[in-house]
Amino acid sequence: MKVTAARIEGDAVALAFDDGDVVHAHRLALRDACLCPDCQNPVSGQRLFDSPATIRLATPVEARVSEGALCIVWRDGHRSVFGPEWLATEASALRDHTRAPRPRMLWGAEIGRRLPVWTFDEVSEDPEARRSWLESLSAYGFALLRNVPVREDAVADVAELFGHVRVTNYGRVFDVRVRVDADNLADTAMALSLHTDNPYREPVPTLQLLHCLSSDVEGGETMLADGFRAVEQLGLNAPRLVEVLREVPIRYRYRDGSAELWADVPVVTLDSSGRPAALHVNNRSKGVPIGSPELVAEWYEAYFTLLDLLVAPDAKISFRLEPGDVVAFDNLRVLHGRTRFSGEGDRLLQGCYADRDGLYSSIALLTRSAAA
Ligand code: FE2
Repeated sequence: MKVTAARIEGDAVALAFDDGDVVHAHRLALRDACLCPDCQNPVSGQRLFDSPATIRLATPVEARVSEGALCIVWRDGHRSVFGPEWLATEASALRDHTRAPRPRMLWGAEIGRRLPVWTFDEVSEDPEARRSWLESLSAYGFALLRNVPVREDAVADVAELFGHVRVTNYGRVFDVRVRVDADNLADTAMALSLHTDNPYREPVPTLQLLHCLSSDVEGGETMLADGFRAVEQLGLNAPRLVEVLREVPIRYRYRDGSAELWADVPVVTLDSSGRPAALHVNNRSKGVPIGSPELVAEWYEAYFTLLDLLVAPDAKISFRLEPGDVVAFDNLRVLHGRTRFSGEGDRLLQGCYADRDGLYSSIALLTRSAAA
C-alpha cells in the first residue's frame, strides 16, 4: 500500500493511500520526525535539535507527494522530505494504530518434535547460522545449542556471541548443582516448578542461559513453557483474570548474607497494544497480594488458572540437558523448571544472565551485513 497524495488539514497532514484510505499525521510529529541532515544524524539516527525549543510553532504551508516521497515546506522555510521507506513504515503504523512488533511465534508442546537446535561450532563460525539461532531465540523465546565446550565459564562465552553478560550478586556465572543422595532426596533434588528468574530485581534480567557441565543423575528433565501463549489463552477465556494479574502488584523478595532484594511487580505486563510483554512468576520468592478478600480471591483464581495453563500437557516441553548443551531463553516470557531427580548422582549446570537488547542488536547487525 502506497501513499499517493498529501493535503494540509488543520493541525495535520492528511495522507491518502492508493486504496482510498486516509490517515492524519499531526504537524508536531511530522516536524519532530524530520530526516534532513540538519535535524537528524544520518548515521546514528539521533535527533540534532531540542524538540521543545524547536517545533512548538511548526506549521506546514505546503504538503505534497512527489515520486513516492512526502515533501513538506514549513512556515519558517524549513523543508522536510520523507522518502517511500519512511512513509511505508510510519503511515502504515498510523493506520494500524501501532508499530509492527518484532516477529513472535507462540508455541505449545508440539514444538518438542522440532526443537530449535544448533551447534556451538556452526553459530561461532557461520554468521547465517548465528542469525537463525538468534532469530529463533527471539521469535520462540528459546533456542538450544549442542557441543558447547564442557568447561567452566563457557556459558558466558555463548552469551558473548550476541551480547553481554549481566553480572549480579550471584556473580558473572552461577552454579546450579544437584547432588542426589538417596537418603536425602528432598533437599536438593526436588522438582522446581515453572518460574521466571529473579523477579525481585530492578530491572529483571531479560535472558538466561544454562549450560550442562555434567549429569549422571536419573530424571531431572528441563521444562519450558511459553508464558505469552498462556496469557493469550487466559485472555481469550477470561479477560478479567488477565486484568487482575496485570493490576495487582506482588512483592518479590530475596535475602542472603550479602543481598537484600525486592521489587513490586505484577505477574503479567502487557504492552500498549495489549500483547503480553513480561511475566513474573516465581513461587519461591513471591509475596501475597494485598486487597479486599474479593480481590485476593480473584487474584488467586487468575494465578492458579495461569499456572494450570502453563503445566497443561499441550503447553510445556521437557527434555534432558546433556553435557555440552546450552539452553538460552527469554526470562520474561519462557518459564523454566525441572522435574524431580531420582537414584543417586551429581548434576552441574552453569548459568548466566544477559539481555534482549544485545540479542536484538546482533540480529539487526547480522541482517544488515547479510544485505550488504
Ligand atoms: Fe531458575
